[in-house]
Amino acid sequence: MESLTTEIVRIDPDRPDAAALRRAGELIRDGQLVAFPTETVYGLGADALDAAAVARIFAAKGRPANNPIIVHVPHRAAAAELASAWPAAATALAERFWPGPLTLVLPRRPIVPDSVTAGRATVALRVPAGRVALGLLEAAGRPIAAPSANPSGSISPTRGEHVLAALCGRIAMILDAGPTTGGIESTVVDLSTPRPRLLRPGLVTRGEVEALIGPVETLAGAASPDDLASPGMLPRHYAPRARVEMVAGPLATQVERFRAPGRRIALVSRDPLPLAPTPDLLIVHMPPDAASYAQRLYATLHALDAANVDLIVVQSPPDGDEWTALRDRLQRAAWQP
Ligand code: TXA
Ligand code: MG
Repeated sequence: MESLTTEIVRIDPDRPDAAALRRAGELIRDGQLVAFPTETVYGLGADALDAAAVARIFAAKGRPANNPIIVHVPHRAAAAELASAWPAAATALAERFWPGPLTLVLPRRPIVPDSVTAGRATVALRVPAGRVALGLLEAAGRPIAAPSANPSGSISPTRGEHVLAALCGRIAMILDAGPTTGGIESTVVDLSTPRPRLLRPGLVTRGEVEALIGPVETLAGAASPDDLASPGMLPRHYAPRARVEMVAGPLATQVERFRAPGRRIALVSRDPLPLAPTPDLLIVHMPPDAASYAQRLYATLHALDAANVDLIVVQSPPDGDEWTALRDRLQRAAWQP
């Protein structure tokens, strides 16, 4: 793949510079890739209606061609232009959660290229929150296809430097607005089937969705992207380089099980610990509430990879709807064949 000069533009998340947004919008219209912050994670954006530009996303990420991409739009009317049906449930959810961390899968219109939808009859749509994301959509004047801005299978980026470390030389620009506020990806709800289905748990909880539209089915995970309703949900995903183990019960005892000569362990816990850090044991304290935990999770995993630990031992998150997406991401990070 040809090497590009990646331009890094720092941008204020609350008052983004209009000239910077204009330049980023021009790059999108020109078929280039621009990484930008949403309220969840950084996205890797391209003109969603330009198949050649979308192909560059797949190349830059090493993304399998059978994994479709979410299309970001500035408002509900722009979403409806890309969908061939708009059920009442879509109106209810969009009214309540857009702009915000909810993605709706709907039957697509033919104008959406096959590469975006991986040849499916549906398209995933989202109005992201945040002045930079919405400002870029406005400046580009196009729907923007954007997966998370990380190499396929690895941890999503929540800071500009995560994007830079992974994709420098492969994309035209990074709009760096600092850490994202949400920290994990949007909830994906499929409204193209007779009964709504939760394809990916995320920052909007299942309870919040069901309160508006009634019961949603959950998918049982499958192993191959081709037979999956949600092809991005592979068992191992969102994974750091280091092995991840989730543990419950007394943490000090749990950590002892994994100690081995020369093995560097990081313990990621919510509870205060009766353990002191040593050169072989890093201790990371996470916040007790789900929203703050989510905001920090990926940055923590990125940092532990950078610190070259061999094993990340994570205290299992508690039960409860607001922890479901976090349990899901950690299970995928910990998955071993
Ligand atoms: O928060 C987010 O959703 C971030 C930001 C950048 O918007 N984006 C993101 O994109 O996480 P990505 O590509 O990493 O994950 C999108 C998920 C994948 O699991 C993909 O398979 C699924 O959405 N998806 C996309 N289009 C779909 C479709 N038509 N039908 C079913 N699943 C779809
Ligand atoms: Mg992703």
